[in-house]
Amino acid sequence: MLSSKGFDLWADKYDESVDLSDDEGSYPFAGYKKILNEIYNSILNKSYKNILDIGFGTGTLISKLYNHDCKIYGQDFSKKMIEISQAKMPNAKLFYGDISNGLVNPLKKYKYDAIVATYSLHHISDKKKIIFLKNLLKKLNNGGCIYIGDIAFETRDLHNKCMNEFGDEWDKDEIYFVVNELLPFFPNLHFKKISECSGLITIKKE
Ligand SMILES: C[S@@+](CC[C@H](N)C(=O)[O-])C[C@H]1O[C@@H](n2cnc3c(N)ncnc32)[C@H](O)[C@@H]1O
Repeated sequence: MLSSKGFDLWADKYDESVDLSDDEGSYPFAGYKKILNEIYNSILNKSYKNILDIGFGTGTLISKLYNHDCKIYGQDFSKKMIEISQAKMPNAKLFYGDISNGLVNPLKKYKYDAIVATYSLHHISDKKKIIFLKNLLKKLNNGGCIYIGDIAFETRDLHNKCMNEFGDEWDKDEIYFVVNELLPFFPNLHFKKISECSGLITIKKE
């Protein structure tokens, strides 16, 4: 699993390497721009204003929302990623903290219209994902939504098929979403497949 230091070292070249993988349409980032665009458009269409980003990285998605007058909050454990994002969004409330320990205290004080997590939750175990997502649901305003854009598969068979296809390229330290294993915990969960290896998971708070 990449450490916070690993992400610090990747930060300057992050956007470039993600674009390359997306443009090639290959694992791990095939569908990246499409996923971020879907989330961006949905948030603007619903006029959501208070947005929390979990593992915001270089702030690609939230800096666009920031420029549409959304109030931006976030948590990440890479000091370099925080520095890059804070420079793009001087008034955003961005905090340092490991998501495997949950939300940092300052972010627990607020409620959000949308909580986004793109390509970040695969860094925590499935058990921790469920606990974290349940806690995040409590932080949503009524009518709000959690958006998870990530490497994700409808079933374990499809996950394993992709894993076999990509062989040595497959990162065995990362724990990808298997939607039908998550559904029993989140009845309001919806999944939209975006590429062979990615999708958009939404969980609404009615
Ligand atoms: C692959 S990047 C995704 C960045 C951004 N969300 C995007 O879609 O481009 C993963 C991000 O999650 C952060 N991250 C990974 N594991 C984390 C953890 N345990 N706690 C907090 N942040 C974490 C990394 O520092 C990095 O910024």
